[in-house]
Amino acid sequence: MAESITIIDNRSGETSEIAIVNGGVSAAEWSKLLPGVWFYDPGFMSTAACESAVTYLDGEAGILRYRGYPIEELAEQSTYLEVAYLLLHGQLPDTAEYEEWTHDITYHTFIHENVRKRFLEGFHYDAHPMGMLVSAVAALSTFYLDAKDIFDPDSRRKQVIRLIAKMPTLAAAAHRFSVGMPFVYPDNSLDFASNFLSMMWKVAEPRFEANPVLTRALDILFILHADHEQNCSTTAMRVVGSSHADPYSATAAAAAALYGPRHGGANEAVIRMLTEIGSIDNVESFVNEVKAGKGRLQGFGHRVYKSYDPRARIIKRTADEVFSVTGKNPLLDIALKLEEIALSDEYFTSRRLYPNVDFYSGLIYQAMGFPLEMFPVLFAIPRTSGWLAHWQELLDQDSRIARPRQLYIGPDERQYVPIDRR
Ligand SMILES: CC(C)(COP(=O)(O)OP(=O)(O)OC[C@H]1O[C@@H](n2cnc3c(N)ncnc32)[C@H](O)[C@@H]1OP(=O)(O)O)[C@@H](O)C(=O)NCCC(=O)NCCS
Repeated sequence: MAESITIIDNRSGETSEIAIVNGGVSAAEWSKLLPGVWFYDPGFMSTAACESAVTYLDGEAGILRYRGYPIEELAEQSTYLEVAYLLLHGQLPDTAEYEEWTHDITYHTFIHENVRKRFLEGFHYDAHPMGMLVSAVAALSTFYLDAKDIFDPDSRRKQVIRLIAKMPTLAAAAHRFSVGMPFVYPDNSLDFASNFLSMMWKVAEPRFEANPVLTRALDILFILHADHEQNCSTTAMRVVGSSHADPYSATAAAAAALYGPRHGGANEAVIRMLTEIGSIDNVESFVNEVKAGKGRLQGFGHRVYKSYDPRARIIKRTADEVFSVTGKNPLLDIALKLEEIALSDEYFTSRRLYPNVDFYSGLIYQAMGFPLEMFPVLFAIPRTSGWLAHWQELLDQDSRIARPRQLYIGPDERQYVPIDRR
């Protein structure tokens, strides 16, 4: 074999040769040669759980591509809805396809009145918008019973469109409820990002006019967050999807994974950290504390990127454009100083810790007026298209149900002792 690994089983003295394909070995081949010898791999650090053609990521080189297209080119020239089409269909749409896609998404933004009146309004007055979103997405499966026909192409397309279209409506509804503002219906004459901003901020004006710079910035943030291959929430989507659950239930599971502070909460942690630092004068001492092991620099470092996160570079540019409209976020100077000090400090450079996408995204969201609780919700809106692209791919691949093994470490067999004798 051109590239292979030779393994000597010291129990039997047998030698096996396993091919290395695409940088890895197939577990199916492995278990044929070495039955009963499994991998212990918590967190799936060395396990590829699927083949995927959606997103390419090279963390060493700082490369991110959707369906082969560099993220930089998409962020520069595309729109979120076009990127969503690309992720789901594998190629960019032509004009007619794009118009039909945009039209379909735009005309599926309304939610059933019962979702709002009976369901969303049933939450406690101070409910977290992300908790409301996760539950509302799951509840949608009870409104669209055809969603269970996951192998019917028409039904599948319909649910994909509904999910992408209704996420901003549910997200804005959750926010409005949490601040005691009346629900704003979608405006089908607006583009995706403008419509979301209208549902978020409209008060009494007949038509909400979003600032085009802010609309474009939000659309770019949506593009940057649309997919990121096998992260925690996408894995949740694939695991739940592999049981052939309907796409609303699977998306709710993915959104629940995103709710966790280790996944969708890092940009909120950045804002809290910058607020705690409070002034440029305190940056140096804060960095020294981090170096001494007291906490981490939020928004720095990444499980896969070991160079500058390409999304962080784009976001930094977008931040300047947003601040030219909103005025500078007062925390920006602290962030820039922090980045400057960290990037010239051996502690961070030797560990290859660079700013990630979350370092600047929170500053933009905050400058645009979004409360911290909305940050994971803003992440979930565009990531829905990525989750669905992986869900479709999984079904098209006729994947097996996800069912990892475990290494049992509990007690050996023991006998039940009645309660009065324990
Ligand atoms: C993202 C993250 C969890 C990746 O972790 P990881 O790849 O498992 O890296 P490790 O935890 O193994 O850290 C490797 C080393 O870098 C240090 N390190 C990693 N991230 C750090 C950070 N943000 N600040 C300071 N030190 C950090 C660790 O202390 C460790 O140092 P050591 O080798 O002396 O023990 C981590 O970088 C982190 O916690 N970042 C801050 C939170 C964040 O921004 N998350 C959003 C990711 S999109």
